[in-house]
Amino acid sequence: MSFDHRCIVLGAGAAGLMCAAHAGPGTLVLDHARAPGEKIRISGGGRCNFTNLHAGPENYLSENPHFAKSALARYTQLDFIDLLARHDVTWHEKTLGQLFCDGSAQEIVTLLLLEMERAGAGLRLKAHISEVDRLPGGFAVLLATGERLTTQRLVVATGGKSIPRMGASDFGHRLARQFGHQVTETRPALVPFTFTGPVLESLRSLAGVSAQARVTAGSATFEEAVLFTHRGLSGPAILQASSYWREGTEIVLDLLPRRDAEATLRSLRAKTPRKSPARALAALLPARLAAYLAGGFACNMADLSDRQLGALARTVAAWHLSPAGTEGYRTAEVTLGGVATDALDARNMESRIVPGLYFIGEVVDVTGWLGGFNFQWAWSSGWAAGAAI
Ligand code: FDA
Repeated sequence: MSFDHRCIVLGAGAAGLMCAAHAGPGTLVLDHARAPGEKIRISGGGRCNFTNLHAGPENYLSENPHFAKSALARYTQLDFIDLLARHDVTWHEKTLGQLFCDGSAQEIVTLLLLEMERAGAGLRLKAHISEVDRLPGGFAVLLATGERLTTQRLVVATGGKSIPRMGASDFGHRLARQFGHQVTETRPALVPFTFTGPVLESLRSLAGVSAQARVTAGSATFEEAVLFTHRGLSGPAILQASSYWREGTEIVLDLLPRRDAEATLRSLRAKTPRKSPARALAALLPARLAAYLAGGFACNMADLSDRQLGALARTVAAWHLSPAGTEGYRTAEVTLGGVATDALDARNMESRIVPGLYFIGEVVDVTGWLGGFNFQWAWSSGWAAGAAI
């Protein structure tokens, strides 16, 4: 049987464009959007946090934590940095190994399109896919226009469910199930927490306050900034923690990270006995937050008993909060979970159930931390499939 294409990639996002740039001639990328790489373009405030210097398998969540190892080791952050250098795209490290473009994120989309063009791969936008069928030795992709495209290899790179207004959907998950793959439980991740009732009412007084904190959710702890919002909590430490949080559980905030809170308060009591606890604590925390946490103590530091001081230390260093939920896929940066990895080949992302079928990027059950890790997974998994095709 002859096919129209050697390879069709569904999805012109980070993973799909990377894959097509390596899959070479006879590859066609289809996307229902009007422009390719839209999430790249808007990411990192328009500068794209395109990788992380410290990216390794330990920065990813998956039911199989070993799955990502092979691709991440074979196409690393240094490989992507080399690619940027070849296109004269300059970058800088912001913090914690997070790399951003000096100019605009669009430079990355442009370089991927150029790489694709050089490799002889094509792109078709506004392509609405109504059906995908298996053929002997390949696949047929039926478009809403009625056109039927046949291909030997099919790569699913349609991403996760985050930000539906950008065209995100569970299309890739449904396609996986159609072909006999399991999809692990999916949930919004890297997403702000929401609160309700009296907790929200009181937290609202802190809206706009930001502080450095250690945030623990489930088995994970992250130390970065926390931001109080009108709905609840956001900021990098919170987004990171959200990937490990489950409904009905608490998160714990330590607002004096790397300090012994009780010893710190004792020292404040000795040095500033006449200050109120709120004013004394304001030496270490934003004044509004200090006032909120110490508001119940209407005395001077000198008048705080050891028991009261201990209680205040626990409030500051182990503040237990029960989120009502998260802001959901509307604002989540990524989707946790996805196509189960047990039926995928870790070296090239090919299905073990349907030869010639590949799943790459966010659609797979591999979810990175905040900080460039998700794009690195898109580059690594896209490269792994593309190079094998
Ligand atoms: P991606 O979502 O990029 O691409 C999927 C493509 O498939 C899209 O072009 C979509 O239009 C297309 N598609 C979907 N359904 C389709 C269908 N039915 N038919 C045809 N086409 C279809 N990560 C990071 O590492 N650093 C960062 O700075 C950021 N910043 C960031 C900001 C915001 C606002 C968001 C929402 C996300 C991030 N991320 C991030 C996460 C990162 O954007 C994400 O993990 C990658 O884009 C995933 O790449 P994929 O190619 O797998 O999916």
